[in-house]
Amino acid sequence: MDVRPFWLAGRPATGDAELTVTNSHDGRIVGVCSVPTADQVEEAVAAAVAVQKQAAALPVHVRAEALSHVSRRLAERAEEIAHLIMEENGKPIFWARGEVNRAISTFRFAAEETRRLGGEAVRLDTEAGSAGRLAYVSRVPHGPVLAITPFNFPLNLVAHKVAPAIAVGAPIIVKPAPATPISSLVLGEILAETALPEGMFSVLPVPNDRAATLVDDPRLPVVSFTGSGPVGYAIMDQVPRKHVTLELGGNAAAVVLADADLDWAASRVALFSNYQAGQSCIAVQRVIVEESVREDFVARLVPAVEALVTGDPADDRTQVGPLVSVEAAERVEQWVKEAVAAGARLLAGGTRDGATVAPTVLTDVPHDAKVSREEVFGPVMIVQSVPGVDEAFAAVNDSAYGLQAGVFTRSLDVAFRANRELEVGGVIIGDVPSYRADQMPYGGVKGSGVGREGVRSAMADFTYEKVMVLTGLSL
Ligand code: SIN
Repeated sequence: MDVRPFWLAGRPATGDAELTVTNSHDGRIVGVCSVPTADQVEEAVAAAVAVQKQAAALPVHVRAEALSHVSRRLAERAEEIAHLIMEENGKPIFWARGEVNRAISTFRFAAEETRRLGGEAVRLDTEAGSAGRLAYVSRVPHGPVLAITPFNFPLNLVAHKVAPAIAVGAPIIVKPAPATPISSLVLGEILAETALPEGMFSVLPVPNDRAATLVDDPRLPVVSFTGSGPVGYAIMDQVPRKHVTLELGGNAAAVVLADADLDWAASRVALFSNYQAGQSCIAVQRVIVEESVREDFVARLVPAVEALVTGDPADDRTQVGPLVSVEAAERVEQWVKEAVAAGARLLAGGTRDGATVAPTVLTDVPHDAKVSREEVFGPVMIVQSVPGVDEAFAAVNDSAYGLQAGVFTRSLDVAFRANRELEVGGVIIGDVPSYRADQMPYGGVKGSGVGREGVRSAMADFTYEKVMVLTGLSL
């Protein structure tokens, strides 16, 4: 098998070690990637620093054309890239295709947004002492971005850091998840076809234990991290003076109220608790149902879960594939067993075959069970019932996390109340918390992180406002 090079300051390079990538469905080796040496990592950082002024001054049409090129090329290579995602992540091809489509949009949105990055004129002659003065407010990159990306969306969550960085003219160094580096290396291949200056991007598949050196490096003022809470907060503690964005996990709740369309709610909850084998930070984990419709809802939910097609990720019909590794599946299985031992009842699933965990529904789950309190990151949901809206919203908020929540209701009043009261970064009315459009702000409160992604929000995050005051003008 050919060894894939990494991307060092826009050029392919090989190091002195290799990383083997396997498919979690059948254990096959699906790729071997070269791993940079410490000197090569240093070279990438030095190149990013050297190019930062040029990058910030790049004409908008150059940035926009590079971003459009990436979007176009992802579209041209969509099927090939979807298969690579499926192979390295174990994600069913259906979801892998969806991810590529989203990345195509993410780069397209960034191409559009970079054209809108105009700055703002603020008249200062509102005060007598500032007659003839005008402020021009523009956004300036903080500097090179270090992006540390997760395995669960190995292309689109990389795109969510790379595209806004290019859009604002910030060099970026990507450290992909060791389990799934291939998609980001292919993205590097496509970026290398653009007219972006050398040094503007590097993709460095270094092991996690070498990331701390990059995080520490004072020449990389922005760290944009997506992954687990403990790692995210360790980064923040390590570099409290840096601009750190954390997209962390959650135990997302879907609330089903008595006025909801129960067929719709059951089908959406069933699918989006289990899509990507539950390995999404906004997969439905906690289902909070109004008591009066509990029975009717569960009668629809359990068959919908049992009807999900599990199996070979390469099969077009498969909806639920393996987790990223056997170890991950064993952990999820263990958490389910612990809950059952503590009194929870299994309504569906609860079994494991290799890296695949059967879509699982639990009820009567003790409040302190891990499947309730922690992020499962597996195809497991827990169902609880509550007397009404007050208790439903209190249950959503009874969590250390706050990424997104879904509320199935037809009432606009309840929708606005949910928006006011739920302690989350996003409230999805009439659908699952798992809904995400790539142009909208995305991020959490409480233990789900700090900062926002979504192309425009990340562009704001990677930049600061700079004011130039013009004096002596005739306004
Ligand atoms: C995540 O797992 O946080 C990303 C979810 C998504 O992009 O759909």
